[in-house]
This record gives sequence, structure tokens and C-alpha cells, in this order.
Amino acid sequence: MQDTFSEEYIEKLRKRHYNATVSRLRLIHDELMVINIQPDDPLPEFQGGQYTIVGLGNWEPRSPDTQVEHLSESEREKLVKRAYSISCSLLNGENLQTAGERGYLEFYIALVRVADKKPPALTPRLFQLQEGARLYLGPKITGHYTLEAVQDDDDVLFLATGTGEAPHNAMLAELLSRGHRGRILSAVCVRYRSDLAYLETHQKLTEQFANYSYCPMTTREPENVDTSHPNFVGKEYLQEFISSGKLEGTLGYDLDPARTHVYLCGNPAMIGIPTVEEGRKVYPETTGVIELLEGRGFAADQTGQPGNIHFEKYW
Ligand SMILES: Cc1cc2nc3c(=O)[nH]c(=O)nc-3n(C[C@H](O)[C@H](O)[C@H](O)COP(=O)(O)OP(=O)(O)OC[C@H]3O[C@@H](n4cnc5c(N)ncnc54)[C@H](O)[C@@H]3O)c2cc1C
Ligand SMILES: NC(=O)c1ccc[n+]([C@@H]2O[C@H](COP(=O)([O-])OP(=O)(O)OC[C@H]3O[C@@H](n4cnc5c(N)ncnc54)[C@H](OP(=O)(O)O)[C@@H]3O)[C@@H](O)[C@H]2O)c1
Repeated sequence: MQDTFSEEYIEKLRKRHYNATVSRLRLIHDELMVINIQPDDPLPEFQGGQYTIVGLGNWEPRSPDTQVEHLSESEREKLVKRAYSISCSLLNGENLQTAGERGYLEFYIALVRVADKKPPALTPRLFQLQEGARLYLGPKITGHYTLEAVQDDDDVLFLATGTGEAPHNAMLAELLSRGHRGRILSAVCVRYRSDLAYLETHQKLTEQFANYSYCPMTTREPENVDTSHPNFVGKEYLQEFISSGKLEGTLGYDLDPARTHVYLCGNPAMIGIPTVEEGRKVYPETTGVIELLEGRGFAADQTGQPGNIHFEKYW
């Protein structure tokens, strides 16, 4: 099936569907990238924390060592589109930079090699791209995961797993550039240190801004899993970081729901969104951050009822 489309026909499909160019691609490692995409048209206005759509044709090649996909000829002519939070490189040299201010969008994307239900469709193709390649970028930027409720003196906690730090980077750039007076902490939990693409940037920002602190955490490094390691610390999720009191130890103050907004993004199990069953709130079996914080006086956003815990789940 793969050979039935000629190069000429593929070029025609690309011309018909694509409206943007990869202006920069930084491969952090085989399974993680920071990609800058320049749309043909000017960017619409947007806020830090929002997302848009990225797409590629099913006719594009897939990365090797990813789940095999079987598509009909008509499916192969279609675009596959996924939502991506807009990230931000935060610094341009020594200067703060907000998302989109230079006319392109930055995204922070992990390669999904295998998925439970259907084979992952977009990331195996995105990881074959090179600078200069064409692709589809949604014309609209949207989402409620923004700083709208945050006042200048509020404390803000950004808690992320993996690439969930993307929208936090865009919001952080917005807060720092508007002279936010409250305290800001960004904590990111990843498998390996090499998954911290923005580590140095955050470290520089903590030196430049007295009200900003950054806390990276890993779960699969030798010191997390090997009990004989001289610096063994075990594996700690964001939930334990909070319940053990380490979060407040790092912050140097107690969490006060009256003046704090918490942002949670990434793995849904970390977030732990409750459901309502027969008028009763039911938390997921595995304790997530929402359950912990609601036990301490915070309230998660609900439709028509904004709270001080805001969340964006990626799947
Ligand atoms: C609002 C929103 C914003 C998003 N922003 C980002 C982002 O900034 N960066 C990003 O990498 N992804 C992001 N995602 C996920 C993204 O839309 C895709 O689902 C993901 O890139 C995988 O695409 P796929 O087609 O290869 O596989 P899919 O078929 O979409 O997903 C297959 C499976 O992969 C797993 N998965 C999906 N995304 C991730 C992830 N990021 N990390 C770990 N496992 C994952 C899930 O188990 C999922 O069921 C976002 C999703 C939403 C809803
Ligand atoms: N990032 C990589 O280097 C890498 C490598 C191989 C494959 N991939 C693929 O890329 C995709 C993204 O992976 P990712 O590592 O970015 O995202 P991820 O799987 O969501 O993991 C991010 C972090 O969240 C932790 N986590 C897992 N379950 C949690 C829970 N219930 N509560 C709190 N924290 C939890 C993980 O710890 P654990 O260590 O316990 O999982 C890890 O530290 C996946 O499809 C993955 O298969 C990525």
C-alpha cells in the first residue's frame, strides 16, 4: 500500500493541506523534541497555556521501531491532527521571550511508539521531520487553561509530568514579563534527567527572578530505582512530593488556598480528575494531586464553577 502514491501525488497532497513550515527542530533525544513551527499566515492572538492543532498527512513516513499501522488507500490521503499546548523557550539570550512573539509557535513533543488502542498516528510521523519541512498548523488557538484567574500577588504552582510543562513555560513567560509579584514554582516529574529539555533555562530564570523556583524530579534514574546506589532517593511522584511536606519545604512557606493557584498538566493519573456519581464526588482509585489538594482546602475547576486548581490532561 505504501508504494501506491507517487512522489508527484504526495507533493500535490502536501500543497493542498499544509500551511506552515518547521523553522527549527531540536531533537533532545530519540523520543523527545522541541519544534518551532512558522505559519504562512500571521499568528492569531492567544494566551499562555492555550493549545492548537498540528497535523501531517497519513501519507508521510513513520519512524522505525514504532507500532505498525494498517491504513486503506483512502485513509492514507487524510490528515492526522492532534492537540498540542504551546510551549515557550522563555529566554532569547538573556532576555525574556513570550510565546509567539517572534511569529512562530514552539511545541514540546514526546514520541509515542506504541499505544493501547490504535497505533499512535501523529508522533511517529512528526519524529521523521526535518527543518524546512511543511505541515499543517490549526488556524485557531484555544483553551481554558490560562492565567485568567491569577492576581498579581497570588502564588502560582505549576506541576507537570513529562511534556506537560509546555503550557507552564508559556504561562511562566507571561507572568515574569508582566512583573508578577507573587511567588512562582515550577515542578516537573520525568523518567530521566535527559527528559528535561528546558532545565538550563529554568536554572537561569531562578537566578534572574527572586520569586521563581524550579524543581525537577526523576523516577527512573539509578538513584530512583537502585537501592544500593550511594545517593538512593527512591521514586517519588508529585503526589508524594506534596504529601511528604517536601513541596512546602522547597517553597519555604505553607500552601495557602486563599492566595494560590495550582496548575496540573500531563499524565491524567497524576492529575486524578474526580467524577460525580449520584451527586457524590468520586476520586480515581490511584490518588492524584487534585484529591490531595482538595483535602487541604483547594477546589478544582468545574464547569461553571472556577476553582484554584486548573488542569489539562493529555490523554
Ligand atoms: C489539550 C492537549 C494538549 C496536548 N499537548 C501536548 C504537548 O504539548 N506535548 C505532547 O507531547 N503531547 C501533547 N498532547 C497529546 C497529543 O495530542 C497526542 O495525543 C500525542 O502527541 C500522541 O499522538 P499520537 O497520534 O502519536 O498518539 P495518540 O493516538 O494521540 O496517543 C496514543 C497514546 O499515547 C499516550 N500519550 C499521548 N500523549 C502523550 C504524552 N504527551 N506523553 C505521554 N504519553 C502520551 C496515551 O496513552 C495515548 O492514549 C496534548 C493533548 C491535549 C488533549
Ligand atoms: N520520555 C522518555 O524518555 C520516553 C522514553 C521511552 C518512551 N517514551 C514514550 O513517550 C511517551 C511519553 O512519556 P513521558 O515519560 O513523557 O510521560 P509519562 O509516561 O507520563 O511519564 C512522565 C512522568 O510521570 C510519572 N508518572 C507515571 N504515572 C504517574 C502517576 N500515576 N502519578 C504521578 N506521576 C506518574 C512517570 O513515572 P514512571 O517512571 O513511574 O513512569 C514519569 O516520571 C510515552 O508514550 C512513552 O512510552 C518516552
